[in-house]
Amino acid sequence: MSNAFKAIKITDRIYWVGAIDWGLRNFHGYETSRGSTYNAYLILADKITLIDTVKPEFYDEMMSRIASIIDPAEIKYIISNHAEMDHAGCLPRLVHKLNPEKVIASPKGVEALAEQFGWDREVEPVKTGDTLSLGNGTLSFIETRMLHWPDSMFTFFEDEGVLFTNDAFGMHLACSERFADEIDPWIIKKEGAKYYANILLHLSPIVTKLLNKLASLNLDITMIAPDHGPIWRQDLNQIIDYYAQWADQQPTNKAVIVYDTMWKSTAAMAAAIGDGLAEGGVKVELMSLAGAHRSDVLTELLDAGALLVGSPTMNNQICPAVADVMNYLKGLKPKNLIGATFGSYGWSGEAVKQLDQIMRDMNVELVQEGLRVKYVPSEEDLAACRAMGAEVAVRLKQGEWHS
Ligand code: FEO
Repeated sequence: MSNAFKAIKITDRIYWVGAIDWGLRNFHGYETSRGSTYNAYLILADKITLIDTVKPEFYDEMMSRIASIIDPAEIKYIISNHAEMDHAGCLPRLVHKLNPEKVIASPKGVEALAEQFGWDREVEPVKTGDTLSLGNGTLSFIETRMLHWPDSMFTFFEDEGVLFTNDAFGMHLACSERFADEIDPWIIKKEGAKYYANILLHLSPIVTKLLNKLASLNLDITMIAPDHGPIWRQDLNQIIDYYAQWADQQPTNKAVIVYDTMWKSTAAMAAAIGDGLAEGGVKVELMSLAGAHRSDVLTELLDAGALLVGSPTMNNQICPAVADVMNYLKGLKPKNLIGATFGSYGWSGEAVKQLDQIMRDMNVELVQEGLRVKYVPSEEDLAACRAMGAEVAVRLKQGEWHS
């Protein structure tokens, strides 16, 4: 076994034994421009316990880190907080090799592991409030159904106050530092927001309930240890407050304009609409899909109050890049948005009407009917675009979210 990697001590009895995926750039459609980590944790109690594993291709890295402090055969319990492959992908191989005394998951996790791996291995279910003695330590469990899979759960190491939160409070950020307080706060907020917007946004009502439940449990939490990105050991309220804010999606005086263009006509319309918005006192984020990725659009929408979408008509349809973003947006369900659509066309011009319908399906309140321009916008057309931007600005500022 490779001895290239070392475990990193994070408390008296807990070591980080995960893997760093420096080169990851695509996490099922989410552009992970700073890579990611898959965090696994080893608790050195009488019953040595591993919390989660890593993506299958990082098995050797995880094993090397574990072997830097113990013989992996000493692991007695493995807790699977979440069955998705980036955390449970190594379980079958690891369990086959170590044959631990217990493998533990939530009741839904037991089902998911059996179905996913075609397993007949016994996995012990634990429910919210159940505890597990490690001899000289105790774990307790909190099911967090649909955050973000039915099986997801948190594990709490009561003796040291460490809450292992799996995907929650995490971010895709590969770095040599293991703690959030060692990293530029701007990066932490940006990558945390990007993760929330792209993984959890549509589950915001469940996030709010979970935050309330966590508060009511009154746990003495000293550390939040997620399965992606850095660990929180200082000012834990910061990430909890961010989550409360992101789940709330209170709109601000910010508009996101997303568009693609064929021959610069829709681009000219987008720029004119942006001018009208800015003149009306609204912060504008103009995102050409020639450069912007769908996951950045979602991140920008997290605190926006308006969404404006533009597409030329191509083969009687919305053009492909815009259709892709709208499909992604529909799934992640941003809320509290007003909006409008626009685009140029040559003869049939269906795209804008189709966009209007998608916006209605997404519960975006349309300020006016979509604006269509034939071929190349005239000065008059551009004035109409500026007027549309100005109207959205007025409507945004009539809201109660001035900032
Ligand atoms: Fe990081 Fe849902 O897996």
